[in-house]
Parts: sequence; C-alpha cells; structure tokens
Amino acid sequence: MRIGIVCSGGDSPGMNAAIRGAVLRGVEVHGIEMIGFEDGWEGFHQGRLRPLDRPAVRGISPLGGVFLGTSRVQPFAGRRGEPVDLAEFRERTAAYGLDGFMLIGGNGTQTVGAILDEYGIPVVGLPKTIDNDLDATDYTFGFDTAVSIAAEAIDRLRTTGESHRRCMVLEVMGRDAGWIALHAGMAGGAQVILLPEYPETLEQVCDWVRGVRARGRSSLVVVAEGFRLSGEQTIADGIDELGRPRLGGVAEVLAPLIERCSGIETRATVLGHVQRGGTPTAFDRVLATRTGIAAADAVLRGDWGTMAALRGTEIEMVPLASAVGRLKTVPEGRYAEVRLNFG
Ligand code: F6P
Repeated sequence: MRIGIVCSGGDSPGMNAAIRGAVLRGVEVHGIEMIGFEDGWEGFHQGRLRPLDRPAVRGISPLGGVFLGTSRVQPFAGRRGEPVDLAEFRERTAAYGLDGFMLIGGNGTQTVGAILDEYGIPVVGLPKTIDNDLDATDYTFGFDTAVSIAAEAIDRLRTTGESHRRCMVLEVMGRDAGWIALHAGMAGGAQVILLPEYPETLEQVCDWVRGVRARGRSSLVVVAEGFRLSGEQTIADGIDELGRPRLGGVAEVLAPLIERCSGIETRATVLGHVQRGGTPTAFDRVLATRTGIAAADAVLRGDWGTMAALRGTEIEMVPLASAVGRLKTVPEGRYAEVRLNFG
C-alpha cells in the first residue's frame, strides 16, 4: 500500500511530530509505503514529492514549522455541497500510484478530506491548528504551544505595563474562535479577555479598565483577532488564499479607543506569527505523535473517511463529516466563567 501525506493550511507546532508518528508506525511497523508532498497540494499539482522513511523523520519532533512545507492551495475547484470535478485529481493520484491520503490540516483541509471521502477517495485526517476550532476533537496540536507563547507574552507585558501604570492590550490569533485568547488570558490572569464569540461595548471595556486602576493595578487586556465591539465590524485587511477575511489589527484600533474613554495611557501589541513558530510544547509533541500513530493504524485497517480525534485522554477515529461544517467556538459557560472577574 502507498499513502501520500499532505500538509495544508497554516503551519501548526507539532506537524513534524505527527508525520514522524505516522511514518514510524506506518512504514516501520505496518510496512506501508509513504510519500510526502512538498508544500501541500501545490507539490501534488507540481509532482514534488519525497519518500518518507525512518531516516527522513529522524530528530524532527522538537522542530517547529513543518519540514515538508504547507500551502493553502486546493486540490480541486469547488466546495462542499456542490458538484466537484475530480478527474484531474484522480489522474494524478493514479500516476503517483497512491492508494490513499493522510491529510494534516485544520478546518479547510478536513473539509476537503470530507469531500474526497464523499467521492470514494480513501482519506484519513490528522487535525492540527493553533486555533483549536475543529469540532469533534477536544484539542488540536499546536494550540497548547500557541497558548504557552501568548501566556508568556502576557507575563512580559504585565511587568512593563505595571511599571508605567499603562493599560496593555495584547492581540492573539484564533480567527473566529477565542480559544487562544481565553486560555492565554486565564493563564496570565488578564483582567479583560475579548473573544470573537462575545462582542462587548467600548463603555463596558473602559469600565473594566478603570475598575482595575481604581484597585491600584494596571490592566492587561487580551483580545482575539476576530473580536469586534458591539455593533461594529470585525477588523480585516483583504482576503487570504481561501477567500476568507485576513484578520488582524483589532488591538491597534482598540488601544486608542480605550485610552480616550478611560484616560489611561494604553499600548497595543500584536503577537502575530510568533505564536505559531518555534518548538512545540511537550503536550503538542505527544498529542501529534499519538495522532500520527492512530492515523497509520486507521490506514492499515482501511478505516477511511475518519479523523484521529482526541476524546478525553484517548485518540479515537471519528467520521470526517462530524468534524467539519461547524466551528468549535468558545461556549457561553466558558466565557461566563472568566467574565465575572473582569475588571
Ligand atoms: O488558522 C491559523 C491562523 O494562524 C489564524 O489564527 C490566523 O488568522 C491565520 O492562520 C493567519 O494566516 P497567515 O499565516 O496566512 O497570515
């Protein structure tokens, strides 16, 4: 059996560990032949691939990024729910001699996987994204690393903020889900955490910031890139390769507004891609490795159309269709839990 590994979407710490886990189990234990496409579907279209064996994945677990490269190129035109033309895709798959695919990616990638599955193409999904917004799995690898980096940024901003009696606003990623902001904010003891799921008014944010000053402290406000003030639009700059708004910049809009309405000097920091780069945490390496192992086992069993999901402490194969179509956003209860202590 010959399997093609494809990485797609933004990189996420732990992708290398996932490939290593899949190769060590799939190639070494099960005798499956594996190849990796360079730069995701771009390499698939252009015939850029390389064999994956034990030496190819030596020592890569602690490395950030993904050694194969990734892109947001799509394997075919069309979207879920519409008829898609897979003639060229099938031709290439046959030319590469592939019996199936392992897809390492987030929402967009697993949606592609679900479409391929609907058309009878053998595929197994490995969920990754720092955003942690994939349904049907408790956590995606990359998320823990992003949260750790963001929490460290909060700790650092806090000491400079306190020294100058300033309000510090930290913007983190996450697209339409506030998981990174929520977890980093909780870990860092932020006084205000603003999530895409729950718009707030500027007056309310300023009340919180003033309340913190009244207690003799300086505010640390964590804002998710997808947050918007009540009645306002999300801040975006153009669109990405998938036609989605390119989010970012909300902290720079919010900071002067807070300064004006609260009278407290305020600074903005956009953490950006720092939170996606560098060494994965041990948690992400373990989760990614176990995901790769489970995916290789699923391939051997012919358990196609599934995704290796974390359920509690176990990795379970769940239908790809159950993971896509709906974002896993922060539930109301999780927001209420922190909001009661804002200010
Ligand atoms: O989906 C992962 C993510 O890091 C989002 O949190 C962010 O909005 C986006 O990718 C950034 O994408 P790019 O790397 O294309 O700027």
